[in-house]
Amino acid sequence: MNGNWKRGAMHGFVLIVAVSFMAVLFAGQAMAQSQRDSLAQTPPMGWNSWNKFACNVSEDLIKSVADAIAMNGMKEAGYQYVVIDDCWQVSRDENGFIVADPQHFPSGMKALADYVHSKGLKFGLYSDAGTKTCAGRPGSQGHEYQDALQYARWGVDYLKYDWCNTETRNAQEAYSTMSNALIATGRPIVFSMCEWGTAKPWLWGKGIGNLWRTTGDIGDKWSAKITWPGGGCCQYGMLEILDMQVGLDAFAGPGHWNDPDMLEVGNGGMTTAEYRAHFSFWALLAAPLIAGNDVRSMTPEIKEILTNAEVIAVNQDKLGREGRRVRKDGDSEVWVKSLADGSRAVILLNRGQADADISVNWDEIGYPNHISAKVRDLWAHKELGAFTGSFKAKVASHAVVMVKILP
Ligand code: GLA
Repeated sequence: MNGNWKRGAMHGFVLIVAVSFMAVLFAGQAMAQSQRDSLAQTPPMGWNSWNKFACNVSEDLIKSVADAIAMNGMKEAGYQYVVIDDCWQVSRDENGFIVADPQHFPSGMKALADYVHSKGLKFGLYSDAGTKTCAGRPGSQGHEYQDALQYARWGVDYLKYDWCNTETRNAQEAYSTMSNALIATGRPIVFSMCEWGTAKPWLWGKGIGNLWRTTGDIGDKWSAKITWPGGGCCQYGMLEILDMQVGLDAFAGPGHWNDPDMLEVGNGGMTTAEYRAHFSFWALLAAPLIAGNDVRSMTPEIKEILTNAEVIAVNQDKLGREGRRVRKDGDSEVWVKSLADGSRAVILLNRGQADADISVNWDEIGYPNHISAKVRDLWAHKELGAFTGSFKAKVASHAVVMVKILP
């Protein structure tokens, strides 16, 4: 009797401890997830070195880019994060801490972060969930908490985390581990998951990352599918990336965004009209607006695209809805994004070779056809008048018309 009682009490005690432990664990996890989701309430805006400079990164480059963003109107337009992509890191020290390339970053990352901060901007770095980055530099696998600690000491505000050399690693585990490590530092660090959409991160990424790549890499082309040098698939043109966003809009919201990859605006492979279309779509998709060109030497046309306040306002709208395609008639398409004031941003896209008349009906964008609504052209910066039931425009080949429709 005595023995049974003791055994019972012991079992009860073990059960209580186990349940309490689980409760603390789940509460901790829920707290980490809500902390993660409280960052990037609107899609992050900034600049990243990869699309233009690839591995040619240095502290001189990053400083001059930060100077340019602070001076050329981009900072006022909302661009904030200056992010060094792959190739800033060379090795680990005897204690396992990551070492920045001393030749290209002689003053060290802390000094560089301080410089970027002194311009009123934020500082970002890149790493990888595998043993090595995509360019073969040391990855973070097995060093997640140590790397997060180092980033926080340096003053990092944003981490892009890639997926090369991960072998059989589980994506949700890998990204959760680094997300938790970043949160454990106590420093708010936006977490950009670059998993290329393979494990459908939109299904599980909320609360782990603030943004997740939905596709392979973008190339500076209107339309293309380019295999990698090793034969692997693929780098995509802007339209191929756009098509891959169809159906993903429900998964985005404040703190957790679909990322169709960084901007190619200004890198030379598209026409000005095509770049305007690219930027319009990234705004409508509530995508991160991460410029990827040489912002120190832009033509006025490119600067005008990247700093169009009316288009950026669509991207940064507080409602945080991603836009979606509501009609596809061959080469003519209609896309819509709902905005906080009840209005709609609408893109009429012409993928074809000849000019086309494209119309949008109110019932396609959630309004009854009998109401009248004001239409404003967001590239011409002009009120086009009031329309009832529908709006039609001539759209040039490989171009968009982007309007705001307000009942
Ligand atoms: C991958 C990513 C790119 C870039 C490179 C760097 O391809 O998808 O965005 O970060 O690696 O090596």
